[in-house]
Amino acid sequence: MKLGFIGCGVISIAHVEGLEVLNRRRLETFELTAICDIEQERAENFATVVKKRLGKRPAIYTDYRLMLEKEQLDAVSVLITHDLHHTVAEDCFASGVHVQMQKPLAISPSFGVKMIADAKKFNRVLTLSEPSVLGAENVATARAIKEGVIGSLSLIIDYATVTLNRGFFAGTPWRHLKGRAGAGWINDHGVHRTHFFTEINGPIDEVFAYTEIFEKELSNSDVTINPTGEDTAVTVFKFKNGGLGHWMCATSAHGERTGGVWIYGHKGCFRPGKHVILEDGKSILMPELIDRYAPDIVKHPFAHSYVELWEAIAKNKTPISSAERGLEALGVVFAALESATIGQPVKVQDILNHKKHTYEDTVFEEMRSLEVN
Ligand SMILES: NC(=O)c1ccc[n+]([C@@H]2O[C@H](COP(=O)([O-])OP(=O)(O)OC[C@H]3O[C@@H](n4cnc5c(N)ncnc54)[C@H](O)[C@@H]3O)[C@@H](O)[C@H]2O)c1
Repeated sequence: MKLGFIGCGVISIAHVEGLEVLNRRRLETFELTAICDIEQERAENFATVVKKRLGKRPAIYTDYRLMLEKEQLDAVSVLITHDLHHTVAEDCFASGVHVQMQKPLAISPSFGVKMIADAKKFNRVLTLSEPSVLGAENVATARAIKEGVIGSLSLIIDYATVTLNRGFFAGTPWRHLKGRAGAGWINDHGVHRTHFFTEINGPIDEVFAYTEIFEKELSNSDVTINPTGEDTAVTVFKFKNGGLGHWMCATSAHGERTGGVWIYGHKGCFRPGKHVILEDGKSILMPELIDRYAPDIVKHPFAHSYVELWEAIAKNKTPISSAERGLEALGVVFAALESATIGQPVKVQDILNHKKHTYEDTVFEEMRSLEVN
């Protein structure tokens, strides 16, 4: 099947690596025949990388609508800022093209709902490339927990703080503006985590959070901005099945970063990417967990995302990383943001059915003002 990329930025190279893995293993895959970026030079440089890794130089566009019109594409991977996800997806569906979207599914839950409805309306596939639940290691982790390796889950602790020294995450100012990114790092990075939480232990019922913007100005040598997305979020939540969580995301740390996830069940502790330690002291390392629970899954998460896209199109198979699961993950993030705004715990369901949207309204407002400007 013929594939196009819309956006040739930071993450696009990891997708080419994923396609390269599938090529090398001679698995069914896509041919990357066209790429698009509004910055011509970026697209040109990226085409050179594609040629080197995949053997063929793709056609280059700076207007994705023209690419959709001229190329006979089966699918595209959308790799651009969050504010554009829903419009680009709709244009692709209307052109008869299936879509793999990057996380977060949309800039905010209402747009995610619209995208899923649009995919249905045009009878096209919409998958999500969410690496936190894809690839052998993550699939083994989810399957092992669901099969009870640590018993029933009681507590998740997830701490992630980074030191940006008042610069930009991944060198991209847009990530700190809610009108482009939906929120601060709690959306951009946080949605990886909430997708993982719900994948391993089912729906999250209720969330309470405090958020802040501690850094009032961020800059690099070219650009200075006043961020509107939160740089610090401290959140607690409760799963529908009773498990609890304590989850933290911050780009405002100085001096030393933190990172780590601990998942506790009544029989032991799971450290994703590392090991399981059971109460009798026995440990199980990741390679053994992969052999046991995910021998059928390709290692590279982005390679896996294209296996999922292929199987959804060719075999009508429901992907692990579906748009619906992506919407649920986004709902948890926005429940935290809503909670921090109104000062009360918030049910995820009230976000998904648009009963509570005080925070989301501020995103719409900023999107409108950025459009006007
Ligand atoms: N681990 C992950 O899964 C992961 C990691 C990073 C980013 N992402 C996601 O991937 C997406 C892209 O992030 P990034 O870090 O690559 O961003 P980026 O800013 O580095 O790249 C975006 C690219 O899109 C181009 N672009 C903007 N508007 C366009 C348009 N209308 N048509 C064509 N091109 C356009 C820009 O010029 C830029 O090159 C986001 O949704 C982000 O959250 C996912």
